[in-house]
Amino acid sequence: MTHKLLKSFLLLIALLAVAGCSQRQPRYVIGVSQCSEDIWREKQNAELRMGAYFHDNIELRFAAAYDSDQRQIEQIDSLVASGIQLLIVAPNQVATISPAIDRAFDKGIPVIVFERKTSSQKYTAFISADNYEMGRVMGEYIVSRLHGQGNVLEIKGLEGSSPAIERHNGFMDAIKGASGIKVIGSLQGDWTEPTAYEATRQWLNNNKDVRVDLVFGANDRTAMGARKAFLPLTSSFSPLYCGIDGLPGENGGIQLVRDSLLDASYIYPTHGDQIIDLAIRILDGKPYKKETMLMSALVTRDNAKVLLMESDEIMRQASQLDQLHSKADNYLHELDTQRIVSWLSIAFIVLLVVVLVLFYLYHLNKINLQREHVANTLWNMEAPIEVNTDEVKTEIVTTEEPDAEPVSAFITRFKEVVEARLDNSDVSVEDLAADMNLSRVQLYRKVKTLTGSSPVELLRTARLNRAYQLLLTTDKSVSEVAYAVGFTAPSYFTKCFKEEYGMLPGDVGKR
Ligand code: FRU
Repeated sequence: MTHKLLKSFLLLIALLAVAGCSQRQPRYVIGVSQCSEDIWREKQNAELRMGAYFHDNIELRFAAAYDSDQRQIEQIDSLVASGIQLLIVAPNQVATISPAIDRAFDKGIPVIVFERKTSSQKYTAFISADNYEMGRVMGEYIVSRLHGQGNVLEIKGLEGSSPAIERHNGFMDAIKGASGIKVIGSLQGDWTEPTAYEATRQWLNNNKDVRVDLVFGANDRTAMGARKAFLPLTSSFSPLYCGIDGLPGENGGIQLVRDSLLDASYIYPTHGDQIIDLAIRILDGKPYKKETMLMSALVTRDNAKVLLMESDEIMRQASQLDQLHSKADNYLHELDTQRIVSWLSIAFIVLLVVVLVLFYLYHLNKINLQREHVANTLWNMEAPIEVNTDEVKTEIVTTEEPDAEPVSAFITRFKEVVEARLDNSDVSVEDLAADMNLSRVQLYRKVKTLTGSSPVELLRTARLNRAYQLLLTTDKSVSEVAYAVGFTAPSYFTKCFKEEYGMLPGDVGKR
């Protein structure tokens, strides 16, 4: 019984520990594989996080490949292995990342490709702004800005990445009709400022006398890299610079246009929150659009100021929202800690109670065993012996007169009194007490203290002992034995006998 109690207790503690310490399981785990790490991606990641706040309990796992195909492939594989339920991916290049995306898709993981395309058809949804359109609109702007006349130096985006290809195609198609616009160079960039700077610097070295009216960079960072390369040469004349991305905030494209460092840009929308909404729709099994085109707009000197004011306001509100979320997060953390402390306190109290109960049971058991031992020893002994069990003695000392007879003598005397009377069914405790020269209460207290049993119980035990002896040693029937040991009903005798010896009186001697 103690074992069972201990087992259930340990189980309870384990359950409490699990309940107390377990963090909330996320509803969905979403992997985000970014091809690069730059201010455009940072903004988008912040929006993805913000978008996730609006859906209950979403975990986002981010990975940035820093423009490396190999790294992105490995990161996608390990995101999948980590147990993500949906993959959001901007593939570095069209073809190179496709095998990893295919592997994720074939494992049943929904895939949202965003902003850059893949050569594979294995994706669940695609979301992006129209890169061809961006290049085309920018081409038209450039034609009109140069009044149909001028030399343009183009610096393309990363080779093999879909926005680079599409922006270039759009741009080329737009200027096709403008015979006065000449693309005097089309340099290979990779979306980064240093590469654009280096490519432009080298080109300028080789084309010292060529006049450049406008530089079209495939993104703003590229345009700014080219601008850096031109700076030492442009004391008297400076080309115009156009890019794409039109980011808000400090050093974003909108500010660069407002401050006339860039002539124009084109907002390349990040819309991380919209991507998360799409992801949750897919995971929730709700209807969704397979292809989503995001709206976008040209940024020029005419609208840059207004756009900047608006975007600053949006960013301010977003940052307030972020702060609010952090606060709520802190409260939740505190709540979690309090929950754990409460559970641990409860566990401790339960532990204390169980230990006390076990201690009490153990002690009770010990005292009972001692009493049983004393009773048995005394009751069944032939010659008087002295009891030296401390505990029993202590109790006797408190209840007995200093000149009382020794315990063993008392028990022997009581045993003789009982045995002399046990064939008499009418004998009462008063009779036994009178024989012992004690009052009924005195006898009861003394016998109970010494043996743990009452005089009546001992009388009954003595009767059953005698009955057992008679059944074993004489030919008397069960009824005769019952009457002989002072029982008035053989059926009640049989019941008591069964309780005491675990067998029927008729079975004595048969074993
Ligand atoms: C950000 C970025 C942007 C560019 C886009 C093209 O990583 O380089 O500057 O517009 O990717 O995919």
